[in-house]
Amino acid sequence: MYQIVKKRVLNPTVTLMEIEAPLVAKKAQPGQFIILRVDEDGERIPLTIADFNRDQGTVTIIFQIVGATTQKLNHLHEGGFLQDFVGPLGKPTHTEGLKKVAVVGGGVGCAIAYPVAKKLHEQGCEVHSIVGFRNKDLVILKEEFKSVSHMYALMTDDGSAGEKGLVTDALRRLIESGEQYDQVIAIGPLIMMKFVTKLTKAFDIPTVVSMNPIMIDGTGMCGGCRLTVGGETKFACVDGPDFDGFLVDFDEAMARGAMYRDFERQAHEEACNLFRGGKA
Ligand code: FAD
Ligand code: FES
Ligand code: MG
Repeated sequence: MYQIVKKRVLNPTVTLMEIEAPLVAKKAQPGQFIILRVDEDGERIPLTIADFNRDQGTVTIIFQIVGATTQKLNHLHEGGFLQDFVGPLGKPTHTEGLKKVAVVGGGVGCAIAYPVAKKLHEQGCEVHSIVGFRNKDLVILKEEFKSVSHMYALMTDDGSAGEKGLVTDALRRLIESGEQYDQVIAIGPLIMMKFVTKLTKAFDIPTVVSMNPIMIDGTGMCGGCRLTVGGETKFACVDGPDFDGFLVDFDEAMARGAMYRDFERQAHEEACNLFRGGKA
């Protein structure tokens, strides 16, 4: 069992938890993830390692409440326990040798992007962070990003915080004003990553994206997380989650992501009924 040592609400739909998991903390690198089970009957869900503290043996996760399992997780409190917390899984994000990088985060994708921006900053890289949210109430990790970025651009769909517009608007402006990036790292909804790569391809800037397909075992055995990258089948859990954005078949990934929507909706409704009934 893994104890929740800290819980913090970041916005109405996003929660941060610090979990006591010394063996995971010991080996964790930015870009890697864990797979957890809330309880014995629970499904396995992957969440990125948003931060870690090797001395204290803790790992931070930041999750958006989107369905049954994240809702169940959010009902746990400090001092409570998780059944399983397996990791670190996946390949760490490649950061060596990069001198100037644009880190683009969309929504809860910022939780995945932040540890990467932090690591780049720690190794002396000039980090330009461009983050986007639907509105001001959904903004997360603003101070954290600012503290590791030479430049921080906040975009919202409705203009209620930062500037009104899309992350691609800000990125295009920076590139056209002469900023020269070794690499762009884009993490967020598939549609956002697709359009970021369309833009960066036009300017020939190498671009890495973090792919988050449905994962089940996280060990390359079940095939649940398969993607087509450069015409080849890859498994996001062991070959990724980072891939060359120019090579990813985003349209196929979006179609696969929609396959389980009916099951998830049903599970979510059941979880909502359970919590409304006061049993959890
Ligand atoms: P459901 O209603 O079951 O699903 C809602 C949506 O979540 C689905 O449409 C699907 O897109 C996704 N999803 C559902 N089950 C899975 C699964 N087993 N594997 C992957 N995606 C699933 N979310 C965060 O909020 N923060 C993170 O740091 C984060 N990191 C991730 C890292 C990786 C490598 C992957 C693959 C996913 C990550 N996700 C992250 C997404 C997170 O796993 C899903 O939001 C979560 O599984 C939803 O479960 P649910 O039962 O609450 O919702
Ligand atoms: Fe099963 Fe990747 S999650 S192969
Ligand atoms: Mg689910």
